[in-house]
Amino acid sequence: MDSTELAQQFTGVFGGQPTIFRAPGRVNLIGEHTDYNDGFVMPSAIGLYTRVAMSPRADRQLLIRSEQFPGHFAFDLDDLPQRAIGDWCDYVLGIAVVLQQTGHLLKGANLLVHGEIPIGGGLSSSAAIEVASALALISLDGEAFPSAEIARLCQRSENTFIGARVGIMDQFVSCLGKAGHALLLDCRSLEFELIPIPDGVRMVVCNTMVKHQHANGSYNRRREECEEGVRIFAKWYPEIRALRDLSIHQLAQHASDVPETIYKRCRHVVEENQRVRDGARCLRAGNLDGFGELMRESHRSLRDLYEVSCRELDLMVEFAEGLPGYYGGRMTGGGFGGSTINLVQTTDAEAFADQISRRYQQAVGIKPAVYICSAADGARAEINGAG
Ligand code: GLA
Repeated sequence: MDSTELAQQFTGVFGGQPTIFRAPGRVNLIGEHTDYNDGFVMPSAIGLYTRVAMSPRADRQLLIRSEQFPGHFAFDLDDLPQRAIGDWCDYVLGIAVVLQQTGHLLKGANLLVHGEIPIGGGLSSSAAIEVASALALISLDGEAFPSAEIARLCQRSENTFIGARVGIMDQFVSCLGKAGHALLLDCRSLEFELIPIPDGVRMVVCNTMVKHQHANGSYNRRREECEEGVRIFAKWYPEIRALRDLSIHQLAQHASDVPETIYKRCRHVVEENQRVRDGARCLRAGNLDGFGELMRESHRSLRDLYEVSCRELDLMVEFAEGLPGYYGGRMTGGGFGGSTINLVQTTDAEAFADQISRRYQQAVGIKPAVYICSAADGARAEINGAG
């Protein structure tokens, strides 16, 4: 559904003309489970969006609706629930709550949400609804809000309101992604560089259509294991504040002094950070073969050291090997299901999509969703209700 259709739907539901804000999903090219370790990531926004249509209200009510999900939600801005209510509207509500907590004066609004990013597909549907909602709510008083601050605010809502201890990557690239570019982000300083992705290549995203139940708990546990790693290594190297500060040499020095699981997690993060830097060099030089090789290494490390892959993701990665025009690929996002990302020559992308779908469906018995993507722009207002 495009903006014009959503605007019509809005008029049917609430009356009047809305302003529409849209925020994209993302894929991560390389740098997985490094963001919450103050490390490096390299995602791109993709052309799948969540849109929030909004019009101001004269009273202090926040009305949240979607034609895709059930529920007519109405909240009083002077008495917002301070905890998630356990429904989809939490992703919008959390933003309102965090905006208030940070001293922002909210105004009443009608909001209608429409999402086209598959939920549980590892493509950041949650970041997209958060960012689009934040743009909508912030727009009401016309105050300028830097994009990086919006990203932080959305991350905070997810951490404190939703209860998922995610890093900054998804929200950041949903705000600041740029068409045709990968975004190399230093998750400590939030400095970033936009690196052009060569025209002749597409990002083919293959959704396994599975999301394993334990995903959220396992994600939070990985974070704890990383924190444990920091505590252990800081005994020998007090300057270490996050795994980002640990060098490959320091890690190797203590291979036999650290519990095996913690060591494996730390090794993944340290080497993955290096792969992101190497990947940036490859991409700047247009060396897609080199970049593809790093993606393969990243997948093996996520599978064997960080242990966040699963059979379906491994098969999807395996099935890409040998297909024409394939440079390399890996699981993308948090893992335990979701999607893989594959770098494929533009001219071969359609055939690649067909063949990998067929192979996966034959082996797993599930039809995957495959998207041939180019990097897209970050969030913005699309239709202005005044106009
Ligand atoms: C999820 C989180 C991100 C990041 C990735 C793993 O997508 O939202 O912050 O940690 O997992 O790289």
